[in-house]
Amino acid sequence: MTTAPLRLGIAGLGTVGIGVVKIIRQNAAQISARTGRNVVITAVSARSRDRDRGVPLTQFAWEEDPVALARRDDVDIFVELMGGHEGAAKNAIEAALAAGKHVVTANKALLAIHGQKLAETAEAAGCQIRYEAAVAGGIPVIKALTEGLAANRIQRVMGVMNGTCNYILTRMEATGQGYNVLFDECAQLGYLEADPNLDVGGIDAGHKLALLAAIGFGTRVDFDAVELEGIQNITLDDIRRAGDMGYRIKLLGVAQMTGRGLEQRMSPCLVPANSPLGQLEGGTNMVVIEGDSVGQIVLRGAGAGEGPTASAVMADVCDIARGTRLPVFGQPARSLIGAPAARSASAAPFYLRLLLQDKPGALAKVATVLGQEGISIHRMRQYEHAGDAAPVLIVTHKCTRSQLDQALEAIAALDVVTQTPVALRIEQV
Ligand code: HSE
Repeated sequence: MTTAPLRLGIAGLGTVGIGVVKIIRQNAAQISARTGRNVVITAVSARSRDRDRGVPLTQFAWEEDPVALARRDDVDIFVELMGGHEGAAKNAIEAALAAGKHVVTANKALLAIHGQKLAETAEAAGCQIRYEAAVAGGIPVIKALTEGLAANRIQRVMGVMNGTCNYILTRMEATGQGYNVLFDECAQLGYLEADPNLDVGGIDAGHKLALLAAIGFGTRVDFDAVELEGIQNITLDDIRRAGDMGYRIKLLGVAQMTGRGLEQRMSPCLVPANSPLGQLEGGTNMVVIEGDSVGQIVLRGAGAGEGPTASAVMADVCDIARGTRLPVFGQPARSLIGAPAARSASAAPFYLRLLLQDKPGALAKVATVLGQEGISIHRMRQYEHAGDAAPVLIVTHKCTRSQLDQALEAIAALDVVTQTPVALRIEQV
């Protein structure tokens, strides 16, 4: 091989960083054969130098400061695996771009918040920023959107993109244990982010959705416009009652362009139990993309973990080694449009769970409020009483979230309603 090796500087030697080191050790010949270049690590940086990480690292130069690593002359690609949307990761990526280096990162938060600016900087400098590992771990979904579906008008992007939430929800159903028990189990298994609200509050998945929406719809990445709702209030009752009606509850991301602008939602939704999304178990991720020519495609795989995430990092490295060059969001950053945020624009049926006083006229009051807001009841069930309260479940015909919110406000104020109502969207998938 006569071409010079491609030299990586890796900042962050946690699970993913070590996964990258292992892939390069194990598959060097294959990577070289496929890309036409040897890929080598020249320098690394991490919080603790002395920790035993199970692979030899002494052959690599050590930098305490990731910014210094990013600027090294013997680094061609700065591989950022530290995380965090401010501070060290951002400073080091900016330093890498200023020094004319390509960047490969798994940092969804950073790109969801600062992606537009970083993309403009990178493209002006002729550098790549690649981030396949930032969305849905090992699933090559960014490649699918930017390359495989490049000629499609994307109609909708949906997905379960947080494995921890899907693990909690599917284990609640399988074991009959409550949310808090499963949350603690995830903490013990090391599944939770350092700030668990990133997982269970839907923020991590919201970052991922914002990135896919930007690519899919040619818009400036706009995480602030993602309507976020976590899974913290989902009860076993909701899961069972959704199941009785043929649905499963998923933390589902949906991005679609509507007549009023771009709708981006990450919230617990009911999906048909027999759909691919409904059948997704455990920590697995799934992304569903609908394009005008291709129709619907479904991508499924591990959304986290050493091997899958490092596989995605290395896919980006291999692309750069091959000479593949792509704009950060699939088209030049300056051509991305600032779409208005269409909050809750598309109508859908909703699942409502209410706890009503068991007395004459209680249900009629709820039905009257729904009727006043123009919301029609599709199905209704009353479950066995809990003391003198009656759990009531209502499935509405299609309505908008703002219609529903108005109704919920009025319902919550009724004297016969003893608990804040739960409302979950039923997504047609
Ligand atoms: N915490 C994420 C998940 C993985 O549970 O899917 C990293 O984004």
